[in-house]
Parts: sequence; C-alpha cells; structure tokens
Amino acid sequence: MKLQNDVAFVTGAAQGIGKAIALALAKEGACVIISDINFEAAEETSKEIDSSGNTSLALRLDVSDPKGIEDAFDVAIKKFGKIDILVNNAGITKDNLIIRMKEEEWDTVLAVNLKGTFLCTKAAVKTMSKQRYGRIINISSVVAFMGNAGQVNYVASKAAIVGFTKSVAREYASRGITVNAVAPGFIETAMTQVLPESLKEEMKRQIPIGRFGFPEDVANVVKFLSYKDSGYITGQVIHVNGGMYM
Ligand code: NAI
Repeated sequence: MKLQNDVAFVTGAAQGIGKAIALALAKEGACVIISDINFEAAEETSKEIDSSGNTSLALRLDVSDPKGIEDAFDVAIKKFGKIDILVNNAGITKDNLIIRMKEEEWDTVLAVNLKGTFLCTKAAVKTMSKQRYGRIINISSVVAFMGNAGQVNYVASKAAIVGFTKSVAREYASRGITVNAVAPGFIETAMTQVLPESLKEEMKRQIPIGRFGFPEDVANVVKFLSYKDSGYITGQVIHVNGGMYM
C-alpha cells in the first residue's frame, strides 16, 4: 500500500470523479477527508470507505466559502495531524452562450472552480510547507485546451487552473511540494449525464478510444501523482481523454 500513513483531503468527494479518487487513495492506505457541499452524500462515501477497513472523515464544505475552508482544514488537521495530499476536484457548470450568460453564472462558476482551488491550496500549503512535503492535484478539463461553445465561464476557470498549477508548482518546488493538474475528457458522471443523447453520440465519434471515460480512469492518474515516488513530476498537466485531444 503506497499511501499508508498519508492523509488526503479531497473536495467534491461525495460522488463522481471525486468519489472515485477518494476510494482509490483509501485503497492504497491513505486516510481520506471526504469534503463536499452535499454532506449526506459525503457521509455515504465515507461509510463505504470505513466499511472496507480504511479510514475517512466526512466534512460539509462549500469551497467558495473562505471561513468554511479554514474550519475544515482545522478539523482535519486536529483529527489526523497533517495533510499530505490535496485534490481540488469540486467543480460545477452553469452553461450558456456568452450573449445570454448572466454575471451570476460567470461569478458562481469562477467562485467554485477557480477561487475554491486557490483557497484550498492556500490552506494546504500552510501545513505542507511546515512538513516540507505535499502533493497537490488540481482537476482541469480537456475543454481548457480545446475551448467549448456554451461554456465560457467553465472553460475560463479550467484554463486558469492550468496557469495556477504551474505558478504554485514553481513557488513550492523547493519545499518538497509538487503541484500538477489532471485534465479529463468526457467522463461518465452526473455532470455529463444531463447532456442530450445526440450530443453524446457526436462526442463519442471524436474519441479515438471509442468510449467515454470512467471516473476510475481519472482516479488512477490522480493516485499515481499522489505517490511519494512521483516527486520529480511538477507543474504538469496529464490528459485523460481517450485521445480526444492530443
Ligand atoms: P459531479 O457533479 O458528479 O460531482 C461534483 C461534486 O462536487 C459533487 O459531489 C458536488 O456536490 C460537489 N460540489 C459542487 N459544488 C461544490 C462546492 N461549492 N463545494 C464543495 N463541493 C461541491 O461532477 P464530476 O463529473 O465528478 O466532476 C468532478 C470534477 O471533474 C469537476 O471539477 C469537473 O469540472 C471535472 N471534470 C469533469 C468532467 C466530466 O466529463 N465529468 C470532464 C472534465 C473535468
């Protein structure tokens, strides 16, 4: 078990990709903090981990709430003593063509996807730099590299995460903290379930591997980046998209 004695904090970990990441890290022996705005679902995920003999803690957390983040990190550090791995996974969409996009749709998506990543990273590096060790993995998206009509707010947030990742990687490389991004393609979760069938079929034709991704496809890469012996990889974006973007 490669993550025995490691403590991992995962945002948006109640379902979808975040849940798959939490399960994968726990399976390698990490104690996992399942933080999510949906506490009931976070508790379910936490129970699933605990019942398989691993350790987790469910926390209610809205990543756009600075005070909430401070409190959540305090609780986590009081319970486990440290944070070795942070996965900034919580993310939302509020799609619209730019001409119809309301300021509220822009602000909310940027507040959760980008500011949430900033605030959680800031909280984590405080404790990681004292330990002189850390692994931070930010979830971007293939659309940050391709653009996507109807998603200017989401794409702007996911592209900004790439620049953010590289900058924090440079700030903290000397403290033993690596910072990388994972850019998933089309992954089968609640976020993509709502898309019309015709659009899904069209998207599938653009994927050389010929299928949509599973949350576990993303979780495997996050798990790899969180290992101690992945310490020479920093400031990178790993694409997990079935070849949809090369
Ligand atoms: P999902 O909608 O299934 O899960 C998102 C989770 O985040 C939910 O548990 C939700 O309660 C939580 N959440 C939402 N707002 C929150 C907030 N303010 N604070 C804390 N938690 C919050 O989404 P999915 O598909 O699992 O996405 C996870 C990440 O992967 C997101 O950042 C998303 O942008 C990204 N992504 C997803 C892709 C896909 O095809 N599904 C493709 C590329 C990136």
